[in-house]
Amino acid sequence: MTGGPRRWVLASRPGKDLKASDFDLQSFTPADLAEGEVRVRIEHHTVAPGVRAKLMAATYAARIELGNTIPGNAVGVVEASRHPKFAAGDRVSGFLGWASVAVMPGGELDKLDAELFEGGVPLATGVGLLGMSGLTAYFGLLKIGRLKAGETVLVSSAAGAVGSVVGQIARIHDCDVLGLAGDDDKCADIVAESGYDAAINYKTHSDLGGAIKAARPDGVDVFFDNVGGETLLAGFQNLRAFGRVVVCGAMSVYDGAPAPMMPALTPSLRQTVQAFICPDFVAEFPAARRQIAQWIREGKLKHRPTVVQGIERAAEAFVGQFNGQTGPRPIVSVD
Ligand SMILES: NC(=O)c1ccc[n+]([C@@H]2O[C@H](COP(=O)([O-])OP(=O)(O)OC[C@H]3O[C@@H](n4cnc5c(N)ncnc54)[C@H](OP(=O)(O)O)[C@@H]3O)[C@@H](O)[C@H]2O)c1
Repeated sequence: MTGGPRRWVLASRPGKDLKASDFDLQSFTPADLAEGEVRVRIEHHTVAPGVRAKLMAATYAARIELGNTIPGNAVGVVEASRHPKFAAGDRVSGFLGWASVAVMPGGELDKLDAELFEGGVPLATGVGLLGMSGLTAYFGLLKIGRLKAGETVLVSSAAGAVGSVVGQIARIHDCDVLGLAGDDDKCADIVAESGYDAAINYKTHSDLGGAIKAARPDGVDVFFDNVGGETLLAGFQNLRAFGRVVVCGAMSVYDGAPAPMMPALTPSLRQTVQAFICPDFVAEFPAARRQIAQWIREGKLKHRPTVVQGIERAAEAFVGQFNGQTGPRPIVSVD
């Protein structure tokens, strides 16, 4: 493999047996810039688990076709620009993909102002707290969950990139926060570091709904769900009157596993179940990023990714999220 531009493409369509060899790291020559386009040297990119759903079928984005670059949120530096808003040296983020270089229409990129990173805010937060995972936690909890100070919040995949931020933002709002995670170390870690008051290792309970009920007998006001399937049902059955379920992700059914039916809502309980995607809030990203950066400077939000060094490890890191081999909150540092 040369040191030139590289990108990961889909080599074969995975079934339930997702494996790193379904992806291929290829050298390529970036296209010449057309009017309005920008070439970006990518520094960090995500390997978000939601990509698995896009391998199976169209979601809000098109299905990923064989030979196509794998999509992902990324942060990088502008190398060349034919867009009036961007100049060489600007730091930008966008869905640039699992690649070292990408050419994109400028209209699909966000400029990350240098002030965001003042006061010790790490650059890699561009794909963490200031990227899609932080923004998803922020808008999901505050806009979809309509969080109020002092409420009780339940979060699934609580140690994940999104879940760990949800816990911290809920803590900033003086909430009581209960997390679900897949091993005892993750449970201890999110209580120590991510704002959680308590955590349940869901793998040790055959009756998850009952375990949540034992931990919070009065129920929860907001359930922020990243997992779907049986987990969604277990959280929903613990929802108080006027409670809100934030349907953020569906980790447990991205491989095509059948999802159980949601129970009917009971009118007298006036509960809300709402799914959302973060790009719905794109107009509000700049203000949200300023608030998140401020919380980082104040020490209220911590950035704790597993940094995967080298673009050549991206596929392995992606697959490892589904079998416990990858550390929490992975981001790929391209060089
Ligand atoms: N709506 C949006 O706009 C939006 C934006 C970004 C992300 N998302 C979604 O939000 C969710 C969280 O994203 P993320 O990037 O922070 O990922 P994540 O939560 O870090 O996902 C990886 C973790 O999911 C858990 N997991 C894996 N398989 C599971 C299963 N079968 N059942 C339950 N848990 C399982 C594992 O944690 P444990 O060891 O704790 O089980 C794993 O470490 C994902 O579903 C993602 O697709 C939605």
